[in-house]
Order: sequence, then structure tokens, then C-alpha cells
Amino acid sequence: GQPGGSSTNFRKKPVIIIVVGMAGSGKTTFLNRLVYHSHVSNHRGYVINLDPAVMTLPFGANIDIRDTVRYKEVMKQFNLGPNGGILTSLNLFATKFDEVISVIERRADQLDYVLVDTPGQIEIFTWSASGAIITEAFASTFPTVVAYVVDTPRSSSPVTFMSNMLYACSILYKTRLPLVLAFNKVDVAQHQFALEWMEDFEAFQAAAASDDSYSSTLTQSLSLVLDEFYKNLRSVGVSAVSGAGMEDFFEAIEASAEEYMENY
Ligand code: GTP
Repeated sequence: GQPGGSSTNFRKKPVIIIVVGMAGSGKTTFLNRLVYHSHVSNHRGYVINLDPAVMTLPFGANIDIRDTVRYKEVMKQFNLGPNGGILTSLNLFATKFDEVISVIERRADQLDYVLVDTPGQIEIFTWSASGAIITEAFASTFPTVVAYVVDTPRSSSPVTFMSNMLYACSILYKTRLPLVLAFNKVDVAQHQFALEWMEDFEAFQAAAASDDSYSSTLTQSLSLVLDEFYKNLRSVGVSAVSGAGMEDFFEAIEASAEEYMENY
């Protein structure tokens, strides 16, 4: 990014929201909710789909990788399996990404948010060169925030919670962008336990101690690492199904975008 966002070609709007999440976290349903919320609250949004293998999307995408790259053809042509096919499709699309940035730049005055959907296999985006290239292309032109969708009910055990947070932590340090944790599915399970564990690592360690499936010394060391990580992010509880927490989510995005403008 650019120091202080003071460069003349650096814009304040739109804010790019890159949505990532483990398979089953509800990423697609959440994005659909964000699109809907944008409509009803008169935010001017734009949607980019970067998942070449998705069959149907519940929302319309303004820019869709599937219009440019035929995933099934890529698999055949390069003799690849499903994951190799997705990765190669993303690589091909990344080589043209300056065109995507130009399209957004031309519409920048009419947009508040750009919502970016990423491949369902999270690591294809978070650990690939093309994912890094695409992220950097966004972040060098617009304020950019990563939204990490967490499956709250499935993170209620200390062990799964910690794995999920370590993954989020690795994304924060890899992208060096502001991160918002969206604890999804709060209609099924409240995320209060997560907030408590994040605020008080002794509470987390006590919970972990009662779970003997994990090395307690490792858990204790890692929870100290995570304690530092938690200070660098924002967390909100949301439900993609009920629509709960959408205002909180967009407030966290705005605050993160401010942080971006100050620090990047
Ligand atoms: P992709 O990997 O992009 O396909 O998305 P995903 O697997 O992360 O999630 P998807 O949106 O397909 O949702 C997975 C499951 O979680 C579906 O059965 C959804 O109906 C369910 N789900 C998603 N969000 C919520 C929510 O807020 N509450 C509840 N109760 N269920 C949800």
C-alpha cells in the first residue's frame, strides 16, 4: 500500500472486501447476504466472483472469472485435477487483473464497496502466487480489507477454535491487510464464547485444559501468540441466514478501511 494514502492516484472509495472462509463456513450465503444488505441500505456495491468452479451463484456478479476462463477446459487442456484446474484458472485470470482494476477505477465514483468472492478451497487463494498478485493489485489501488468467515457452531471446541484462529492469523500476516472476523451462524450458536476467549487467554486456557485431545503446553504457547493477533483485528457476530449483525459488519469494514488509509 501507500503511506498515509496520500498519493494522488490513491482513492478512498470503493472499499474492497475480500471474503475468505473455510469450506462450509457459509461464505457464499454470507456474500449473498452482503449483496442483499447493500441493496436495501443503498450502498453502491459491485461483485467480483473469483471462483472458476462454482456452478451457480445466488447473486449476480458484475465481474465473473467464469466469463473469461473455462475451468473444465483448463483441466482438460493441462491435464489437471480439480484443484490444479482452479489454481491454473486463477493464474490465467491474474495475468489480466489490471483490466479488472481499470474497470473498478472507471466506476470508482459510483461505488462504495466491491465484494470479492474467492474459491471455496480457501488455500487456493490464500497460499497461491495469483491470490497474492490479485490481493496486491487491489491493495495498491483501493483500501482493501479481508473478511474471514468463521463457522461459529463448529468452532465451539477450544481445539477447532484455535486451528481456525491460527489460520486467520496466517492470513493476516501474509496479506498484511486489516482483517475482520465474521463469526457466522449466530442464529445457531452465539459467538460470546469466542469473544471471551479472545479477551482473556486464561479463560481460553482453562477451556482447553478440560479438552485432553490437545497438548496443553502447545495450546498455552499458541494462545499467547494469538493474544497478540487478537489485538490487531475486529470481530463481529453475523448470520448469513437471518441477516443479524450486518450493520456491525459494515461498521467494522469502515473502521478497517480507515485503519488502512492511515497505515498502508
Ligand atoms: P463455498 O465454499 O463458497 O461453496 O461456501 P461455503 O461452503 O463456505 O458455505 P455455504 O454458503 O455453501 O454454506 C454452507 C452451509 O451453511 C449451508 O448449508 C448454509 O445453508 C449454511 N449456512 C450458511 N450461513 C448460515 C447461517 O448464518 N446460519 C445457518 N444456520 N446456516 C448457515
